[in-house]
Order: sequence, then C-alpha cells, then structure tokens
Amino acid sequence: MKNMYTDKNTFAITTPLYYVNDLPHIGSAYTTIAADTLARFQRLQGRSVLMITGTDEHGQKIQRTAENKGRNPKEHCDSVVRGFESLWEQLNIQYDRFIRTTAPNHEKIVKEFFQRVWEKEDIYLSQQKGWYCVSCEEFKEERELTEDKHCVIHTNQKVEWRDEQNYFFRLSRYQERLQAFYQDRQEFIQPQSRRNEVLSFVNQGLQDFSISRVNVDWAFKLPVDSSHTIYVWFDALLGYVTALLDPDSEPTLENALSKWWPINLHLIGKDILRFHAVYWPAMLMSADLPLPERVFGHGFLTKDGKKMGKSLNNTLDPFELIQKYGSDAVRYYFLKEIEFGVDGDFNENRFINVLNADLANDLGNLLNRTLKMAHKYFNGQIPKINVQEVEVTHPLKKIGMGLGEKVTQAYTSLDFSQVCEAVLILVRTGNKYIDETAPWSLYKQGQLEALTEVLYSVLESVRLVAYLLSPIIPNISNAIYQQLGFSNNFNDKSAINSSETFVKQVSWGALPGNQLLGQPQPIFQRIDMI
Ligand code: MSP
Repeated sequence: MKNMYTDKNTFAITTPLYYVNDLPHIGSAYTTIAADTLARFQRLQGRSVLMITGTDEHGQKIQRTAENKGRNPKEHCDSVVRGFESLWEQLNIQYDRFIRTTAPNHEKIVKEFFQRVWEKEDIYLSQQKGWYCVSCEEFKEERELTEDKHCVIHTNQKVEWRDEQNYFFRLSRYQERLQAFYQDRQEFIQPQSRRNEVLSFVNQGLQDFSISRVNVDWAFKLPVDSSHTIYVWFDALLGYVTALLDPDSEPTLENALSKWWPINLHLIGKDILRFHAVYWPAMLMSADLPLPERVFGHGFLTKDGKKMGKSLNNTLDPFELIQKYGSDAVRYYFLKEIEFGVDGDFNENRFINVLNADLANDLGNLLNRTLKMAHKYFNGQIPKINVQEVEVTHPLKKIGMGLGEKVTQAYTSLDFSQVCEAVLILVRTGNKYIDETAPWSLYKQGQLEALTEVLYSVLESVRLVAYLLSPIIPNISNAIYQQLGFSNNFNDKSAINSSETFVKQVSWGALPGNQLLGQPQPIFQRIDMI
C-alpha cells in the first residue's frame, strides 16, 4: 500500500512556534534541541530534511507584554526574535526555516486558508462566554481551573471572564472523522499516554471553538468582518504551512504544500497537545488537506515540581548554562537524563555528575588512553586487523554489531535516553575490556597480534559511539573523529549522506586500519563541582 509519508525521501519536522512574550528559556530550548537532534539523525540517514522553527507573535499575550514595556508590538517582537536566533546559534541548532507569524506572506496563507474553511461553511458567528487564560491563549472549562480561578499551568495568573461575539469553527462537525482517523492511524499521537488523553477528550464530545477576537488589535483582520481579528492559535498553526514556502515563491497554499507537505513530525510540549492533535487536524480536514504523520508531546522541565516558564518566572537561563558548560553538555544532559515524554526536574549537581561520568570519564578517558597507546605502540596509526576474523563473541564486536539498529530504533521512537544508554554500554564495556586485557602487558610480553586486536576494537567502538551520538553531541563527535584521523564535520549540513554510507558507518568495523591518528586531547573537560 502506498504511504504518503515514507514513500518520499524527505522529512519535515517542526518545533512549536514560540511566544515572544520574553526571551527564550530552557523549556523552549528543550523542544528545539530534540527537534534538531532528530533532524540531524534523519540527515545522517541520507534523507532530505526541512526543520522548521519560529515565533508566534500575535495575540493578547504579546500585545499586553509590549504595552507593559511601553513598546510598539512589532519592535518588541523583533528584539525577542533576535534572542531566539542567538540562542539557536549558540545551541548549534541547524534549522532550515524560521517562520515569524507577523510575516506578510503568512498573512496571505492564513487568509487563503480561512477562505477555504469559510466556503465549507465551517465558520459562524455566535456568543462566547467563558474563562480565558491569556498565558495559554485558551478558554478553559470550569473543571480545568483551581478553586480561586487560576489556570493550573499558570498558577500566578487569574483567568479572565469573557462574554463577547466571536466567530466559531465547527469543530463538533469533525468529531466522528477525528475518531475514525485516530483509530486508523494509531501512531498519530505519541507517546501512548498522550494519545489516551486526546481520545478521552474527544470522546467526551467536541465543542466548536472561537477563532476570532474583538478586543485584540495585534492580529490579522478577519477577512469577512473587519471588526474582528483572527485568534492567535488559528493563525499560529498555519505558520507550519507558511514555513514550507520557498523564500522567493508566491505565497499560495498550493505552492506551500507542493514539496514538503504533509509534515512528518510536530514536536510539542504536552500543554499544547489539544491544539495539535484535535484542532489542527480538524482545521485541515475542513480545508481538504492531508494530515501530518505524527504529533509527539513531550513532558515539562520542572523546578520544584512546577513547569518552568516565563509566566511563573522560575526558569533557567539557557544562555548562562551554555556559556558555563558548552552546547553539547546542555544537549546531552536534557536528552539523556529526562525520558522524552515525561516530566523531569533540573538539578545542577546532577547535571555536573552526569557530564563528568559519561563524557569526561567514560567516553573521554576511553579514547584518550587508547589513543596514547596507539601512538606509543603503533607509531600513531590505527592498528590494522581483519575485522571479519574477529570472533562474534568478542565483547565489543558483539555489542557493536547490533548497536546501529538498536540506536536507529531508539531515535525513530524519540527515545533519546535509550540512545545514550545503549551507546554507553559499549563505552563501559570498552573500559572494562581494556582493564581486563591490559594492553600495556600485552606489549611487554610481545603479544602483538592480541595487542592489535585490543586497540583496534576499542578505537573502532569509540568511532561508532561518536557517529551514533553525533546528532546529540556534534562537537564532541567531531573532536573524536578528528583524533581518529578523519576529516568529517558533523556540523556540515550540506555534507552528502546516503543510506548506504549510513549503513556502512553504523557497522562495527568501519575504521580503516593504518589511518594516521590525531593527537590525543580531552574531548570534554571535567567540570569541578561548585
Ligand atoms: N505559541 C505557542 C505554540 C504555537 S505552535 C503553532 C506556545 N508557545 S510557548 O512559547 O508558550 O511554548 C512553546 C513550547 O515550549 C511548548 O511546546 C511548551 O510545552 C514548551 N515549553 C514551555 N515551557 C516548558 C517547560 N518548562 N518544559 C518543557 N517544555 C516547555 O505554546
């Protein structure tokens, strides 16, 4: 059967479009690190990738923030956007498109889309009464509020009562089609816990939602009634479509959807699941467009159990963290230590311990001590062996042979902790193997053949680890590859990869014998505990 997602050799992935009420914090960085890692992994496999990120700039929340700062909203947005761009650069994020929802081509796309849904008679005028959380930009049910009328996510801000005329989108009309779709495409919402959440929400019965506002100027005008503006979420979700336009192409839906649509993966936090897994597919159904392949809702980074965020002002400054420890450290910690999909608390001592243990000690030392021996015993060359002749029961070959497949599986299911754990098994076994085989004694005893096999197999294992971890820690992987004598650059987005090279590189034994090694240098400096 034809599969419109996997038949193409392309992969389009999105981060949420971040609100620009304040500078980015570590929560926004979290999703983007994960998306970048996955995009890099897809590129490594030879796919043509489009990674989309951007900013969500309209709506009451941004309008108010700008007002409170006494700034014109556009100027406010421009300055915060610079902060996002700078953070992504410092975090080594290789996005392909940065969409700002205030862009003129976006307005054209939103209006064309609106028109389609309007012609379907899925939009009507009615009265909206309810509690509104400006931080979520969402109406809340009574049961979703605390006793003293706060939203459960933004516990320091009261929700506001609204009673006004709004245009509504007929979500209720799509209830059955959505249910059938979730049934048919079991993998659409991940992880399973989020899928269950969505199913139970939809099974309770869907209500139409309002897609216009009368009290918000900082937004696009509604095409059919200029006394209303378009609701920020209706506008923002379509940012994913506008982002697909080639920079110089005419902003029409047809152009935007021609190459990359449907998007393969929307990566989001769990708080915006409903928008992506219910409202968005229904909007697309109304416009007769194919639906995205997958929506993955990850957990929150928390501090003392509460969601870290701009609204609660309990966040970590990612710029400071990167400056102190480097981008690879930050990327590694969050992806390895917090199971993707569930909440995780940040603790700086734990952060330092993990990096020292995994990167400085286990991986760094393994490479360093083996390289030094290769320099001493083999004139700075990779010892040459016949890989085929190494027994399949060899402790490193045994693990290395199945690792590529295992790690590919883990990346594909976004289980980044599992990626790290799986490669660490090889690293730890490598250290143990050196201790047990004592290559320095083999050298003294003149057992050259055994020595050659020991050093080769450790260096090859480190290479494989560096290759498999390159989507997470590209700079460290580069350093390892250089010391092994390669000139690869895992940060070169235009490097030509293919599925054949990938298969070759993830096979244990790809390290060429006799290659000249680089000088041993620590790949990760141990961090002193504060
Ligand atoms: N503007 C909307 C998204 C529109 S997408 C068409 C929005 N923006 S946001 O800036 O508030 O949040 C963006 C993403 O950051 C969300 O996926 C949210 O879950 C994530 N995070 C914000 N704080 C977070 C944590 N403390 N931890 C993990 N992710 C968090 O929602």
